[in-house]
Amino acid sequence: MIFQDLVPYLKALHILGLIVWCGGLFALPSMLAWHDPAIGQADYRRIRRTTHYTYTIAITPAAVITVIAGTWLILIREVYEPWLYLKLFIVALLVAFHGWVGHIIVSVAETAGTSRPPSPAVPSLLLFSTILAILTLVLGKPEFAQLTGPEWLTEPLGRQLPFDVPS
Ligand code: HEM
Repeated sequence: MIFQDLVPYLKALHILGLIVWCGGLFALPSMLAWHDPAIGQADYRRIRRTTHYTYTIAITPAAVITVIAGTWLILIREVYEPWLYLKLFIVALLVAFHGWVGHIIVSVAETAGTSRPPSPAVPSLLLFSTILAILTLVLGKPEFAQLTGPEWLTEPLGRQLPFDVPS
């Protein structure tokens, strides 16, 4: 099928997108840490513009491309597995981190030197753990066989429903 032929290209797009997205999320907190009013107005403005454009022109579009290519991969490869649902939950945390970085960029830009960005160490550690968890899931594709649930929920018990079913 024609869609199956697209899988290698979509995967390449997905991986290129996530390299730019995740690389940028690592870079931005460090770039934000340079927003120190003591460096002078011209340099401050140059750094502020660089972080703003990096976020809006490179990192956010890369995130959108990653998500769109990943969604197509789910539909074409029909990956409906527990590891994928867990991966998507952790990707949601990555998206929340992305939003938080955008919020810091806006608050640094709009409060004219009074808002100080956080130190990059803690955000980088959080980001590293999130990406490591996603990569472990997607590359290991664990079975989660122990998560099948109790028998009374997964096996038909052959009982009647407690009400009449319209025929
Ligand atoms: C909403 C966002 C995302 C969706 C819907 C998604 C979905 C998918 C799907 C369906 C595959 C194909 C799996 C297979 O072929 O068995 C895939 C591959 C992959 N994804 Fe994602 N993904 C997303 C975000 C991410 C992120 C943020 C990362 C890394 C930080 C990531 C890392 C990877 C990698 C490394 C592969 C290749 C795995 C392989 O071929 O064995 N994905 N993704």
